[in-house]
Amino acid sequence: SKKIIIAIDGFSSTGKSTIAKLLAKKYNYIYVDTGAMYRAVTLFAKQNNFVGKSFLDKENLVSSLNEISLTFQFNEKLGFAEMFLNGLNVEKEIRTLEISQLVSKVSAISAVRKKLVAEQQLMGEDSGIVMDGRDIGTVVFPGAELKLFMTASADKRATRRYKELIDRGDKVDFKDILFNVEERDRIDSTREDSPLLKANDAIEFDNSDMGITEQFERICALVDAKL
Ligand code: C5P
Repeated sequence: SKKIIIAIDGFSSTGKSTIAKLLAKKYNYIYVDTGAMYRAVTLFAKQNNFVGKSFLDKENLVSSLNEISLTFQFNEKLGFAEMFLNGLNVEKEIRTLEISQLVSKVSAISAVRKKLVAEQQLMGEDSGIVMDGRDIGTVVFPGAELKLFMTASADKRATRRYKELIDRGDKVDFKDILFNVEERDRIDSTREDSPLLKANDAIEFDNSDMGITEQFERICALVDAKL
């Protein structure tokens, strides 16, 4: 049957990746977590002292971008692809609160976006892809056959993210997570280059009070209608 591009955008911790992984599995599509790519670039920047809590060395980061190689490797056991930075699995390091606190500064840099968007567009060349992020329906694949835009209350989103981090064994405060979720949305929505916004033809899902199963069923019906 026909292969399409499914673009999922939305605020942080709205369950985009959960839905995206389920869709990829059901339709046998490739799933690309573009947030992982921005997080990996941020990890690289942090490791090289180009970014910290109170500074951003844009110039040196930008001139080092060609030293960054990002690849996804499918992990059979986990059932999804893990992020590799210059050949090393960074899946765990990129999900920390520290990286979450730095990533929106790095992702606002146009040269960073240019590099990652080009790589993302190559991955989608043959369709059969579900990609989640902030600018997928607006910039990366403006012609995607199906665009979803996910929202949920800040409190619900922070609660989800908090549980994720606690389950991994990280020591974090709920109030720091809530602050980070809102702060990232603010920076992502107000940046000059490719701000987070709903594409005109995207379908909005508020899942504050909707379970994953119900939401997934509704979204599958939307996909099936395009095939
Ligand atoms: O999706 P996730 O929460 O992991 O994304 C981390 C950050 O990466 C976002 O807060 C945003 O700053 C950036 N991002 C972006 N464009 C995308 C995906 C993520 O700017 N397509």
